Amino acid sequence: MRRQTSDVKSKATMSGKNYFTFHVSRFTWTFDVSRFTFHPTHTHMEYRSFRNAGHYLVEYIADYLENIGDRKLFPDVEPQFLYDLFDEPLPNKQQSLEEIQQILEQKLIPFSTHVNHPGYMGLITPSPNPAGILADLLASALNQNIGGYSIGPAAVAMELRVIRWLNDLIGYNEKAGGNLVSGGMMANFTGLKLARDFTTGNTAQHEGIKGDWAVYVSEERHVSVDKAVDAIGLGRKNLRTLPTNEKFQLRIDALREAIDQDKAKGIRALCIVGLAGTTNLGAVDDLETLHAIAQEEKCWLHVDAAYGGGMLLSNKYPGRLKGLELADSVTIDPHKWFYAPLDAGAILVKDHQQLTASFGIQPAYLTDQTSQREQRYQFYVHGFEQSKRFRSLKVWTSFHHYGKNKIGEWVDNNIEQATHLHQLASADEHFESATEPEMSAVCLHFKTPQWSKEQNTQLHNDVAAEIEREGKFWFATTIMKGKSWFRINPVNIRTTKETMEALFATLREKCLTQISSPQRT
Ligand SMILES: Cc1ncc(COP(=O)(O)O)c(C=O)c1O
Repeated sequence: MRRQTSDVKSKATMSGKNYFTFHVSRFTWTFDVSRFTFHPTHTHMEYRSFRNAGHYLVEYIADYLENIGDRKLFPDVEPQFLYDLFDEPLPNKQQSLEEIQQILEQKLIPFSTHVNHPGYMGLITPSPNPAGILADLLASALNQNIGGYSIGPAAVAMELRVIRWLNDLIGYNEKAGGNLVSGGMMANFTGLKLARDFTTGNTAQHEGIKGDWAVYVSEERHVSVDKAVDAIGLGRKNLRTLPTNEKFQLRIDALREAIDQDKAKGIRALCIVGLAGTTNLGAVDDLETLHAIAQEEKCWLHVDAAYGGGMLLSNKYPGRLKGLELADSVTIDPHKWFYAPLDAGAILVKDHQQLTASFGIQPAYLTDQTSQREQRYQFYVHGFEQSKRFRSLKVWTSFHHYGKNKIGEWVDNNIEQATHLHQLASADEHFESATEPEMSAVCLHFKTPQWSKEQNTQLHNDVAAEIEREGKFWFATTIMKGKSWFRINPVNIRTTKETMEALFATLREKCLTQISSPQRT
């Protein structure tokens, strides 16, 4: 600020680009505007409390992650208790961030499922990597809305780069494209829509489906395939869910037979869905043969590698997804076995043009009229979503912070933990393990030869429920080939071989107690 003497009474002018001159009586003050930012006082206060609460929160999260093993993994309360806990009117009284943090520490955190706990081996939700957690905080602050380039230019570039990395991992060439979506469900839905549009010569998106078509998949599919077949207008009765072999892979003879039977009735193949990592067991279909059949039938091959895509990072077990690069589209969820925090799913497409053919509608209010319009990538013309979270930031940050090989090491550790559990169970006369794990999912069956199937199922459910109540481990139960199984699936950076040994000892003890219980015998 410079002060000059003047005889002008009182006047303010802009003098030059950055200078604001203010005249009072004989004095003139000239401010360099570029050096000042103006904040109303109350906003200053908000930033101070934002900083304080933010610093506290980061410390809190670091402590939470560091000591996660001491917590009870799952809350032993009735659901109604939690609905009552949050039975509150829409607030109108202002509360400080500190007060809100205290409430969350009392009402939310103790009653969460602690997927970071080493004993969490349940439905495929990873322990999120800490770098990804911080990245997600920044993503919320920037709030880039990357459906359109103009609401997130650098974020769009980063998103494209992460999609390219995923395409490189698959082995797709430069023609490939994709989109990050909320998860495997949306990615499979998008894959099935691409299949419908391609196979019908890009007419179905305008005219609806004409004629009779079917989609083929193994009975081990994830339910997202059923929902997708409904959503693309085909109807679930046109989904052929086919039997698997002893390794839980789609039986090729059953596929050929189903296609032939349909053809005889005038029903054409719209899509074959291959599984590269089944939800139950991580089984991988024979993708090369599925591709050959899809070529013969001139239909689309979509591969669901939502979970199994993590195998592409493995250092020790390469090649387990042989033939993945032959698929027309692939689902991979970085928020599963890439240990990214929710949400980050991906639909990857061998020929990027098909995305534009399926989704390329441009309403006038979104059309870019600038001279850069050819270079500005618009995600909204390549997928369902317009408003779109900045999902790539956490994936990009994770790869930069840990490096691909380190994340691959976590994947390999989970595979080895699963293999160890499989070996422990296979050596025990009371247990059966469904197959040697290809990935990190193990299904164990406790044998009760004298009991009915219903009693055996009850035992599996009761033991899982008791272990859930104790809060040291969490895993799911499932049914495969008409039998009950404990489904144990570490996608967790804190699980160790010792965790598996402790889990197996607990399972064994609980199951044996059940069969010797007087009510059971
Ligand atoms: C093989 C497979 N596909 C799709 C999905 C659905 O993924 P999301 O829960 O991310 O929507 C899952 C979920 O576990 C899965 O295992």
